[in-house]
Amino acid sequence: MKAPVVLGIESSCDETGVGLVAEGVLLGDALASSMDAHARFGGVVPEVAARAHLESMLPVLREALDTASLDLADVDAVAVTAGPGLSTAVQVGLASAKALAYALDKPLYGVHHLAGHAAVDVLVHGPLPTRCVALVVSGGHTSLLLLGDLARDPVVHLGDTIDDAAGEAFDKVARVIGLGYPGGPVIDRVARDGDPHAIRFPRALSRAQDPAYGFSFSGVKTAVARWVEARTDAGGEIPVADVAASFQEAVADVLTRKAVAACREHGVGTLLLVGGVAANSRVRALAEERCAAAGLELRVPPLRLCTDNGAMIAAVGDLLVRAGVEPSRADLAADPSAPL
Ligand code: KG4
Ligand code: ZN
Repeated sequence: MKAPVVLGIESSCDETGVGLVAEGVLLGDALASSMDAHARFGGVVPEVAARAHLESMLPVLREALDTASLDLADVDAVAVTAGPGLSTAVQVGLASAKALAYALDKPLYGVHHLAGHAAVDVLVHGPLPTRCVALVVSGGHTSLLLLGDLARDPVVHLGDTIDDAAGEAFDKVARVIGLGYPGGPVIDRVARDGDPHAIRFPRALSRAQDPAYGFSFSGVKTAVARWVEARTDAGGEIPVADVAASFQEAVADVLTRKAVAACREHGVGTLLLVGGVAANSRVRALAEERCAAAGLELRVPPLRLCTDNGAMIAAVGDLLVRAGVEPSRADLAADPSAPL
């Protein structure tokens, strides 16, 4: 019997993604991004994102099927991000998935977006251990999650950011020191020529009495802005590379320290690092160093799958189908409010 083919649809933020997965194997996927349309606003505009999803959905679906050499008739189940995410954006994916499932007379599965960020690693490195900790860091999320069986257990938030996401902080700091958008990759590049210990920027919520796994990045962003302002007022040059490296060090330090501590506290042997910020060379290096020292396995999917995509949603759908979980009901609603 042929392995059931699961089609996954992602539309929670600015990426329209469709992926096809069968029994842990990625058959094909395609992606369109409206990131450029948001650049001049300095962040994602929900209405603009929703309109772009509507325009891209069918072309992306067609392309994903083509890359997998499949036809719609080969699809056995449809999975879709039900939340968290931008409400209007999520609804475009949900409406598309419902229409497809209905027309094909196949089961529909509503999927938790963050479970997708973790499950995608299965497609690259094989099955996940029964329990692991995931650090999801992107322009939209900064969450430490405790994961069990992704098909059956709820995603447990150990901590989330109380203000900016880590990627957002990279983007804002890049603007303050005159670099482009998105700021993460530029800061990463410029920081290579800087001294990470030149300036001691604050590591918020990292003292013992702070909420264990919460994050806060608005303080470090403001600290960088103040430092730059003071230096400019004093008529000094801005040492861009040192500022970038010192900021990056502060963020990487807090993220990796808390992630490793969460693994230890919960007796988990595997840390998953996902999201756009997982591309950061210092975050990765420090995660590797600290995981090795703590005897933890570190799993980082390739960057292409680290950021929002359809394959990650198909990966969860595939786990649900294989576990024999009941499909969602036809009145499945978007759940945009779940914590990012
Ligand atoms: O996961 P992603 O593509 O989109 C969502 O936000 O959902 O993540 C994008 C974020 C941006 O904020 C970008 O600046 C950041 O990831 N990013 C990086 C790097 N590459 C991308 N941050 C730090 N270092 C990088 N190398
Ligand atoms: Zn995401």
